[in-house]
Amino acid sequence: MYIICLCVGLFAISSAYVNVALNKPAYQQNQWKPGDKTYDASNAVDGRKSDLTWNGGQCAVSFGERVATWWVNLTSVHSIHHITIYFLTGSFSGHIFDHLGFSVYISNTTDILQGTLCFKDSNFTPDTMPSIFNTTCPVHGQYVIYYNERESGVIYPHGYQKYVDADICEVEVYGCPIVDNLYGADCCPDVNCQKCNMETDICVECEPGFEGHQCEQACQNGFYGEGCSEMCNDTCTGCNNINGSCDSGCLQGWKGGFCHIGFSGVPVSK
Ligand SMILES: *[C@@H]1O[C@H](CO)[C@@H](O)[C@H](O)[C@H]1NC(C)=O
Ligand SMILES: *[C@@H]1O[C@H](CO)[C@@H](O)[C@H](O)[C@H]1NC(C)=O
Ligand SMILES: *[C@@H]1O[C@H](CO)[C@@H](O)[C@H](O)[C@H]1NC(C)=O
Repeated sequence: MYIICLCVGLFAISSAYVNVALNKPAYQQNQWKPGDKTYDASNAVDGRKSDLTWNGGQCAVSFGERVATWWVNLTSVHSIHHITIYFLTGSFSGHIFDHLGFSVYISNTTDILQGTLCFKDSNFTPDTMPSIFNTTCPVHGQYVIYYNERESGVIYPHGYQKYVDADICEVEVYGCPIVDNLYGADCCPDVNCQKCNMETDICVECEPGFEGHQCEQACQNGFYGEGCSEMCNDTCTGCNNINGSCDSGCLQGWKGGFCHIGFSGVPVSK
């Protein structure tokens, strides 16, 4: 019994946001051994993260340059909530240095200058740099871009190497799934919302039994169901707003869940 309840609980929490980056097209600048799948940009969105070493075939690996860029194309604008990055670590800890100073952007193009900066590292040191990084960034966008640079002439903090590479094993972008150009049920701020407008985050379709701009009201007395368009049986003294059952009783002379059975015992049409 305990296990069943736990599973239901987990499902309820995880259903709100999904990893919208999974298996989406990805790109990296300066791939190590171009053409070799072991190091391909797409390894960072393939859902595999059991081997975070550079040649385990589960990471995007590039070679050191002044600039490192990796991005995923979510293929349409998504409402993003948070981003989790699993960095390449493994046996060679030197890779940690490549990430110092990194930034994460959400953009509608592959250009960071047109995007929103979610995070820019200015505090991590080789000792504090995490191997799994998480940032909350509630922004609408189509590309999530990892970026780093070492400009010539700039004096960087201790521990920063001269060149950077992307070297990331998994990028999980948690956001709202898109259903028919709308967001799914759990992505609107309104509790009883069934479908949410992508641009405005305003609910456009309430769950059965609810109405109002924020789906905050139960159907008015006498109505129930999808769009509150169904009428309660008139033998009912007040019906359930969701399924129309006559929860609060029947008029005299009627019985049954929908008060559809007359005292003669003959069911009448609902
Ligand atoms: C991103 O994906 C969309 C939809 O598949 C496609 O039209 C667009 O060209 C892609 N962008 C890039 C930069 O490849
Ligand atoms: C991307 O475009 C959407 C409109 O489609 C807009 O709401 C959003 O703010 C844009 N995102 C960025 C990061 O510019
Ligand atoms: C990342 O942060 C979000 C909240 O912003 C949280 O729900 C999620 O569990 C965190 N993930 C990790 C791996 O820490």
